[in-house]
Order: sequence, then C-alpha cells, then structure tokens
Amino acid sequence: MEKAPVNLKGRSFVTLLDFTPEELRFLLDLAARLKALRRAGRAGGHLAGKNILLLFEKTSSRTRCSFELGAAEEGARVSYIGPGLSQFGKKESLEDSARLFGRFYDAIGFRGYGSCETVRDLARFSGIPVWNGLTDDDHPTQILADFLTMEEHLRKPLAETKVVFCGDTRNNMAYAWIYGCARMGMRFVAYGPAALAPDPAVLARAAAAAEATGAEISFSDDAACLAGADVICTDIWASMGEEDKIAERVRLLAPYKVTEALLARTGNDAVRFMHCLPAFHDFETATAAEQRALGLDIREVEDAVFRGRHSVVFDEAENRLHTIKAVMVATLADGAIEG
Ligand code: CP
Ligand code: NVA
Repeated sequence: MEKAPVNLKGRSFVTLLDFTPEELRFLLDLAARLKALRRAGRAGGHLAGKNILLLFEKTSSRTRCSFELGAAEEGARVSYIGPGLSQFGKKESLEDSARLFGRFYDAIGFRGYGSCETVRDLARFSGIPVWNGLTDDDHPTQILADFLTMEEHLRKPLAETKVVFCGDTRNNMAYAWIYGCARMGMRFVAYGPAALAPDPAVLARAAAAAEATGAEISFSDDAACLAGADVICTDIWASMGEEDKIAERVRLLAPYKVTEALLARTGNDAVRFMHCLPAFHDFETATAAEQRALGLDIREVEDAVFRGRHSVVFDEAENRLHTIKAVMVATLADGAIEG
C-alpha cells in the first residue's frame, strides 16, 4: 500500500520524538531544497502574510537569527521579544500570555527555561503552532541541522552512522541527540562521568523509539566507546541557567574535553567534530577569561580541534537557517509542500 504523503501543517515542533522517521526525512529533504534555492538566489514566498512571534527567555545568536532571517526570507513578519522584555511569566501567566499571542500571531518560536511541557502549554493555550528553540531538556531544531550536516559530510545514511557525545550527557543537547538518533536508527553513545549520566526516563523513551528503528542508544564512561565514531560532538559544560555549577563541572568533565588525542581514539581519520555553538575553545570570551582568572579552564574542546580539519562547526551553524526554515514552512505555509 502506498504511504500517505507527509503533511505537517499546523503541527508544533516540540521534540524529535513527536515525529516519525518519515516526517524527519521530509524536513531534512525540505531543508536541503530550501538551501539549494537560497544559494540559487530563489528563496522566498512560502510564508507570505504570516505573522510570527519569537519569545526568547534566554540569549541566542544562531537560533534567533535563523528564525528571524528565515521567516523574513519566506515573506513573514516577525516580532522578537528577548529575555526580560515582556510581561510573560512575570506579571502575566503563561496561559494569559499565550491567549494573547494566539490572537496576534500564526506561530511562536520559543526559547526558555522550562521543559518541552512549557512548549506544549504555550501551544495549547495559544491555539497556534509553537516551535521549540531550546528548553532545559531539549533542542530539537539543532539536531535537524546536525543531521543535515552529517548527510552532507558523511555521504552515507544516518542509520549507518555512530555519534559519540562527550561531556554533560544530562543537558538539552545530549537529550536532543538521544531522541534524534533513536528516531533515525543510529548508534549513539553519551560519553561522560556517571555523575552526569542521562536521566533513565530519557533513555527509556529512546529505547522505546529504538525498538522500531533498530537504533542503539547507550551511556558510557569508558573511552573505549569512542572507537568507530563517525562524529564526535560536545557542548558547553554548564548550560544557560547553570552558570553557578561551573566549578563542579570542570572537575567532573575535564577528562572528557575533546582533544586531538580523544579524536584519535575513534580510529577514524575522517571523523567529524560537531558542536552546536557557542563553544569555549580559547580564552577570547569574557566568560572563559573570567573563569581562568579564578583558576578554572572551562574549555570543552581544544582550539586545535575546533579550528582543525575534522571540524564542521560552521557548516553546522549555517544549516540552522535552512532547517529552521524547513520547520516553519512545513508547519505554517499554505498549500502543498514537497520534502
Ligand atoms: N546552537 C544554538 O542554539 O546557538 P544560539 O544559542 O546562538 O542560538
Ligand atoms: N546546552 C547549551 C546549548 C546552547 C545552544 C545551553 O542550554 O546553554
């Protein structure tokens, strides 16, 4: 029997676990097509007349710019509310703010301190699609960009790849990788100290998804897990909102810093290094310099790796634009959209 065409119109984008492998395939193909159109100078028009709100409780460069520029290129109007700039959550409840936003806008891009449940509540009370631009427990638009980057660089099916995430395997990026890899039938190892192992409930959700796709999702604190990796990735050691934990994180995570020696443990000379960014790879940021003055080296990756031949981090960053655009177009555009 023929499969029904994928139609994501009206859907929120909360976590990759909400989507079937076919739907994620559709979004990746659409992103590749939108990227090619933009490079050919033919971007635009899918979101003409739409009004989009970006509601960000946390700072952002890539995610905000991708939503804002992507929406503008497709013809939508965008309002941006940055951290601390609205009544949301302070003088007005989530429910009341969402009801208001639902009267004004066609969709919301949200980045915040809550969980995926916060995104679902926003969608429920506003009555419009809400896209998760990072919560404390997930970062699904980032993984779409990471998958597109892997397909461009590795030139083999995602289901044949192995990814090892090094460091804080309890954070939003680690969880987003876990969910995405489970959905796409990949091998994924969360490599870090037992004290920062993923929540068993997250691994259980991934295991349930993996039953249908054949994915292998695991945690390890043994460097032997690096062998055969196609991708080594990491993230900052203290996520937004956890800045007070940095001293403890440096103590726990220094052995998991991504170094050239760690890459060599993969045994794969073509291994790719990925990072959602922003990254601490030198002391050229106020944060890294301040911490160094206090005796802490917070770099999660060596500068030589970040700038070296294995690194694809700026291709990955560019792909945020194309993949976020695909999410917006697929869920909001009028008329049929081909993946
Ligand atoms: N990777 C990412 O989400 O970057 P920003 O925090 O700059 O949006
Ligand atoms: N884990 C990081 C990701 C930033 C894109 C954070 O939440 O700060």
